[in-house]
Amino acid sequence: MKLPRAGLVVLAVVLSAAGATAAPGEGSEADRLHIVRHFEQLFPGVPLEDYVYGAMIASPDARAQYEQIMEFPPFLGDLDAGRRIWEKPFRNGGTFAGCFPDGGRNVVGNYPYYEESSDMVVTFEMALNRCLEANGEAPMRYGEREPMGVLSAYARTLSNGMRMNIEVDSEKAWAKYEAGKDLYYRRIGQLNAACAGCHQHLAGRTMRMEIISPSLGHATHWPIFRAGEELMTFQGRFNRCMEQMRAVPYGYNSEEWNNLEYFLSYLSNGLPLKSSVFRK
Ligand code: HEC
Repeated sequence: MKLPRAGLVVLAVVLSAAGATAAPGEGSEADRLHIVRHFEQLFPGVPLEDYVYGAMIASPDARAQYEQIMEFPPFLGDLDAGRRIWEKPFRNGGTFAGCFPDGGRNVVGNYPYYEESSDMVVTFEMALNRCLEANGEAPMRYGEREPMGVLSAYARTLSNGMRMNIEVDSEKAWAKYEAGKDLYYRRIGQLNAACAGCHQHLAGRTMRMEIISPSLGHATHWPIFRAGEELMTFQGRFNRCMEQMRAVPYGYNSEEWNNLEYFLSYLSNGLPLKSSVFRK
């Protein structure tokens, strides 16, 4: 069959027009749907909301053990320590609750977000530090168990049940999202591996006695307490995986990790937050 030349030209024009007019939000939504479909095929019948359980979607035994441990988590003392920091008034009388809408309830699903004035991705942990600085207090170090780790462990629980609600709504926000996405798919380190290689294509498979979790749902449940004890933040886990890829980790609150967190958080849009959880 011979295609009429004019038809081809029209098709080409339509295609390029579609590419040019796709708004930033549409591009990220297409990515999210593509990845949701990928996992629907990989894990048929698993409800979308279950992705907050990570690797446990592929192991009913691990999930049963998790539910049992979560009835009375061994890290309640850490959450309590975090609550005390959250509630203790600053020297000027201000509080963390005063820095957020609704006293910090149901806010975490909006983080990270892109901030036009600073041209930065702002994470929830950055917002905690900004709160301190706005009240004349010294900021906390990222990546430390105390105070930042336990504080975020408690503060994030105030948003449990909220659905992730990340926006990519401008060209500049899109640039940060794209930088995070590039990193997720980029092969790095001596193993020449990419985040996506494991958490998208090998999700559900076992590696060194561990089942690999899907990236869908990754952003919803931080921090984790490994073996019920070791507090690990989302970016702490990025560092750990990057070390396992035999590469030098970018480090807490680096632009690279903040952009990656922005991308991964967008993928989890619509999923319910469930913070401070047990992991093996
Ligand atoms: C060689 C395979 C591999 C690569 C590459 C890899 N990871 Fe992992 N990752 C793992 C394993 C194994 C675990 C522990 C089991 C699991 O997935 O929960 C893990 C855990 C995680 C978790 C915790 C999941 C949870 O629910 O507790 C996150 C988040 C994560 N990785 C993100 C990343 C990111 C981001 C990258 C790229 C910078 C990356 N990983 C690269 C193997 C990998």
